[in-house]
Amino acid sequence: MFEGGQRIFALFGNPVGHSLSPLMHHTAYGEMRINALYVPFCVPNLEDAVRGIRGMGIGGVSVTIPFKSEVLRYLDELEESASRIGAVNTIVNEEGRLYGHNTDWIGFGRDLKEFLPIQGNTFGVLGAGGAARAVLFGVLSEGGNPVVLNRTAAKGEALAKEFGCSFLPLSEIRLLKADCIVNTTSVGMAPQMATSPLEAKVLGNFPHIVDIIYNPLETKLLKEARKAGCRTRSGLGMFIQQGAEQIRLWTGMEPPVESMKRAVREKLEGYEKN
Ligand code: ATR
Repeated sequence: MFEGGQRIFALFGNPVGHSLSPLMHHTAYGEMRINALYVPFCVPNLEDAVRGIRGMGIGGVSVTIPFKSEVLRYLDELEESASRIGAVNTIVNEEGRLYGHNTDWIGFGRDLKEFLPIQGNTFGVLGAGGAARAVLFGVLSEGGNPVVLNRTAAKGEALAKEFGCSFLPLSEIRLLKADCIVNTTSVGMAPQMATSPLEAKVLGNFPHIVDIIYNPLETKLLKEARKAGCRTRSGLGMFIQQGAEQIRLWTGMEPPVESMKRAVREKLEGYEKN
């Protein structure tokens, strides 16, 4: 596995121990016959780590929690969507110049379109953090109508104003008429699997419920939504599609999306059995 001449890609986060990105990327490189290694780094100092991308000639880097906003200031150029969203999840190293991209909104949009049409539909976007910004950008770029739903009104209102959409306090969700609710908070993510950001009794008001969480594959929110008769979608497809877009940016080649998804799904199903 370790030999000279391999292309090196990396993941910067803290922590990274449970990330499924190395599995997803190596599944793709193996099938694409690309001689590359994808190395997860638990980064103590982001500025030094970014300097190391140039210093060591790392071809591309995935950026994850908690660095997606902080990393902007260390890069040479930002692609427009990354700048609007205010977050970078992908760095491309072109001969020592570091370009910041955001593939989260692309991954979200690609997967959502397979689930229901975006254009002309109304999406309640639950949360007002970095993930909500990528989801709002994705919905707006495909002609959807997002409504920000947040527990803290001031934060939700500010976000809605910035993206030119409407806001509703989360406590008033029963007043919302929407085709779909998208959870962008981390409520329900492993290991906090017994929690849900919404009361089960409101779920039946919405025909579609999407969770951007992919671990567990079926969150408490999605389980209750399924029982309430809603069509549901987990964050697995978004996760795979954001990674697929990184691979396109780094290699210019088309990644094997279905194999990547199968590998990650099997790993997650294995967790659930244990
Ligand atoms: P990220 O950048 O990863 O999206 P974040 O910035 O911490 O994460 O944002 C988390 C979002 O989840 C916030 O909008 C938060 O609501 P507040 O603005 O009211 O804090 C929302 N959130 C967290 N826990 C929640 C809960 N139990 N119920 C509803 N919303 C919650």
